[in-house]
Amino acid sequence: MKPIFLTLALFVAVAGFAQKVESLPAPNAKKMLKMSLGQTLQQRQSIREYSTKAIDSQTLGTLLWAACGINRPADGRITAPSAINAQDIMVFVCRADGTWHYEPKSHSLILITAKDLRPAVAGRQTFAGEAPVSLLLVSDLGKFRSPHMELGAMDAGYVSENICLACTALGLATVPRATMDKDILIEALGLGELQVPLLNNPVGWPRE
Ligand SMILES: Cc1cc2nc3c(=O)[nH]c(=O)nc-3n(C[C@H](O)[C@H](O)[C@H](O)COP(=O)(O)O)c2cc1C
Repeated sequence: MKPIFLTLALFVAVAGFAQKVESLPAPNAKKMLKMSLGQTLQQRQSIREYSTKAIDSQTLGTLLWAACGINRPADGRITAPSAINAQDIMVFVCRADGTWHYEPKSHSLILITAKDLRPAVAGRQTFAGEAPVSLLLVSDLGKFRSPHMELGAMDAGYVSENICLACTALGLATVPRATMDKDILIEALGLGELQVPLLNNPVGWPRE
């Protein structure tokens, strides 16, 4: 997909034209993320083996909210700190049924392509392609006054750490990764020059 297609897909979504949208159940942080911070930090670890069991939408919705969902509806700020509140990190949810963009405002997924991009996210580390979900973090550097790769990378780190901690609390397995086939992902998602894939987190239930 060329950059124009991603822009078009997002425009179409905003304008309310037909667009495949998956609404996520409201995040249930109180019930699902009740592990103490101390215990969460104690248990956080990189895990590289996953069950193929699907992740239900309530769990996925709570995980995405923890990653960078809106925690202050009054001003639209999010769970992850963000340099100059640019909220530059785009989260793509890569699954067998296609690749979706997480839209924090509507807490929903917008289909970008029907392609399963998990192998491209996995790159040479094929274990990552076995997880039912891969979360790809892309910084939209165009959201800064001038493109600032360092700020984008730091913002991606915060979102990825939120994912790591939320996975621990939810009983999910993940590992933050810089490995991926960026060229394939840029082409398939129609990313623009200032939209840079930086990190990804394969996510699955731990393998028995
Ligand atoms: C920025 C960053 C990039 C990473 N990239 C990869 C990667 O490409 N592949 C991988 O298997 N692990 C990757 N890791 C995970 C580290 O290898 C892991 O965090 C480290 O070995 C410490 O293990 P722990 O997370 O269990 O504490 C990355 C971690 C960070 C912070």
